[in-house]
Amino acid sequence: MTDAIAIPVSTGAGRYEVWVGDGALQAGLPRLKALIPSGRAVIVTDTNVAALHLDAVQKALRDVGLDSEPVIASAGESQKSFAGIESLTDALAHAGVERRDTILALGGGVIGDLTGFAAAIYKRGIGFVQMPTTLLSQADSSVGGKTGINTRAGKNMVGAFHQPRLVIADSQFLTTLPERELRAGYAEILKAALIGDAGLFTKLEAAGAGVYSPETLQPALASAIRFKADIVARDEKEAGERALLNLGHTFAHAFEAERPGQIAHGEAVAAGLGMAFRYSVRMGVCSPQDAKRVSAHLRDASLPDGPKALAGGSFDASRLRERMMHDKKNSGRSITLILAKSIGDAFIEPNTDTDDLLRFLDAETT
Ligand code: GLY
Repeated sequence: MTDAIAIPVSTGAGRYEVWVGDGALQAGLPRLKALIPSGRAVIVTDTNVAALHLDAVQKALRDVGLDSEPVIASAGESQKSFAGIESLTDALAHAGVERRDTILALGGGVIGDLTGFAAAIYKRGIGFVQMPTTLLSQADSSVGGKTGINTRAGKNMVGAFHQPRLVIADSQFLTTLPERELRAGYAEILKAALIGDAGLFTKLEAAGAGVYSPETLQPALASAIRFKADIVARDEKEAGERALLNLGHTFAHAFEAERPGQIAHGEAVAAGLGMAFRYSVRMGVCSPQDAKRVSAHLRDASLPDGPKALAGGSFDASRLRERMMHDKKNSGRSITLILAKSIGDAFIEPNTDTDDLLRFLDAETT
């Protein structure tokens, strides 16, 4: 008996399923087995996740006749690097992974992005399965095929679009998540509602601090995945509307770059969501009432609604703007921002007035 559901994602590379909910691992096993005809799965994970979930996953695989071999990386964002990708591809070669094999990424966004990128380039491309263990990676990064590493020039600066062949987002993995990580992951669910699902926002707003109860969180997670799957199906390589999924992220990446390791990605996104709505009000495109509702809900959900609520003191507005100038969405010297006409109606603004943005950042940070 399972409460898991399958959400299809259609892409140029083919169609795959995201199994999400309680029992997703069991429900996804037949498909997983079909993807690994050799009968031997290589599981890429990190030291933290291995301690919590590796035994259970290996047992589940054994129960359907799959042997498995773990490749265990150190935990942490520093693995998303040229050095990390070199060690991982060496380890895959050492484990005898061949061109027709499918590898498994068991972990959060770092393991998913790193393993996906290794799968994109190892032997010029092999298959991979995402088994996301954090709410953030279940709601966002495991779906849609963005893979990559960080470089000196910025986060996710080198990477590839490489779609997984299956995603298994089991809610059991979330039971061991620290509360701070659960909250941070929720920011990506809220983001989906704010971009294009006003009805979902109304439900989340009504739940208030209760959004983290499984009865509210699981259906909201499924809605966010469905929302993303639809966008990815229409715009896999981010030629247009997929950029909407970056609502709040241009601000967020600047905060994270200023304070590496101190702010969780989802916390930075939460602050960025609040700011995107306030900036939309400043531009005269959104009602102040909507921005207030967004901030109030962020606070109800114990998330930061702006830079002053982020850990570590105040930010320098001109440094933030400089960081925002280097965002991947930009072209030339202009800054592209995702703004909103209302809750559930986001749009892409390719020509932000950078002088006014600086004034806004100054007001937000002091
Ligand atoms: N995380 C945004 C995207 O997948 O496009």
